Amino acid sequence: MTGFDRLRGHLVREYEKKTDRSRAIFRRAEKVMIAGGSHTIRLWRPYPFFAAAAEGPSVRDVDGNTYIDYWQGHYANILGHNPRLIRSRIAACLERGALHTGFEAGHQIELAEALVQGLGGREAKVRFTTSGTLATMYAVMMAQGLTGRDHVLKVGGGWHGASPYLLKGVKFHADDGFEGRESAGLLDEIVRRTLVTRFNDVADLERAIAEHGDRIACFIVEPFLGVGGFLAASKEYLERARQLTAKHGILLVFDEIISGFRFCPGGVQTLYGVRPDLTTLGKIIGGGHAVAAVIGPREIMEECEHGRGGGDRVYFEGGTFSAHSEYMKAGLIMLGYLADHAATVYPKIARSGERLRREIERVFAAEGIRARCTGDGNDVVCGSSLFMVHFPRTADVAYDRPEDIHDPRRSDLPMREDLLKLALLVNGVNVVHGGGAVSSAHGAKEIGATIAAYAEAARLFKKYLD
Ligand SMILES: Cc1ncc(COP(=O)(O)O)c(C=O)c1O
Repeated sequence: MTGFDRLRGHLVREYEKKTDRSRAIFRRAEKVMIAGGSHTIRLWRPYPFFAAAAEGPSVRDVDGNTYIDYWQGHYANILGHNPRLIRSRIAACLERGALHTGFEAGHQIELAEALVQGLGGREAKVRFTTSGTLATMYAVMMAQGLTGRDHVLKVGGGWHGASPYLLKGVKFHADDGFEGRESAGLLDEIVRRTLVTRFNDVADLERAIAEHGDRIACFIVEPFLGVGGFLAASKEYLERARQLTAKHGILLVFDEIISGFRFCPGGVQTLYGVRPDLTTLGKIIGGGHAVAAVIGPREIMEECEHGRGGGDRVYFEGGTFSAHSEYMKAGLIMLGYLADHAATVYPKIARSGERLRREIERVFAAEGIRARCTGDGNDVVCGSSLFMVHFPRTADVAYDRPEDIHDPRRSDLPMREDLLKLALLVNGVNVVHGGGAVSSAHGAKEIGATIAAYAEAARLFKKYLD
């Protein structure tokens, strides 16, 4: 038996000891739900804990264990879990009757105005939907409708939700890197028309656009890569993307579903000073509810009202729960708070992020283990609350590209996804991909306890893996 297996066995036993009830619930769940739940990332092995309550920096499971949580609602909860501010006002709203009516109601206008303001305040139009997947799908459809082209360019490692147009080049595949399709059930034709370029690689972007420019409807990119590795795009890359797309009649779409309102009270695009044609937002803007949006200048957004030259319009109609009044209200409270408290919230979470990234590397180094954290910003995004931990196989992995993070020859993924996850859980900390997002509810006490949990994990790694 390898040291890895022995350590995993030890951690599973420790985890099982404290999570009897979760285990029993999971066995029931497995009988009626695919893989026992509703979202793969929440279903770690041997089984997930089931949450009973969550407040601020922490979540409590059904067995009564408390974890300091950095998953924070898929990074949506920038003020921590269930902030009283939103909870109390939404409760009052519900009392007055905020369940779904199917009629247009006022708060959506204020939220749309807040989003336009957050993207720089220039004239723009908004349409709401209920998930990031839908927002990016509609953005692609609008680009295709507007340009009359049928190819989409995205970056390897970029995750934009499960829209068929974008289910390629998300995971690193042993045979074809970031060129692979991510799902069965996709039409070959759509997969073929989705092109993949390397993140932050100006030369590769120039090549892709030189080769396929007249067929590409849009280039969709996160200015701060999320799931792909918490990597900031360089200013040069985004500026070049803007120039090239404008020159070739390609729409530039910034997917700010993670980065929007995470680094400043608006889009991170305002820090770069690069203006895309369309922006997609989600997560934080719903104040804990299912809100996503597509935003762009009137002449582009009106593509959903009437097609060009009497042609078909883009069928971005809205869904049953689009602009749900309770969700709109929660989003407004969230964005209002962030605008009013930007000077305290953003520096605080960035300082904690910086401390975690530095200390995590240090505690592993103290045990002779190489660990690297991504998530720090750059000369444009100064300060970041995001952190992702990696175990490089060799000392020279640069961690400036998603390839470094997702290629198992460069980074030891089972060590992070299996061992670190469990080692932290048994020490009262919940992470995803070895880290997560700091919220304003995480104070010095939680950050200190988190560093201690990583130090304990490092000691265990040394003991078993040496
Ligand atoms: C950058 C980005 N775009 C789109 C999505 C999809 O959003 P949703 O999960 O709301 O469909 C995600 C989700 O994590 C994301 O990180």
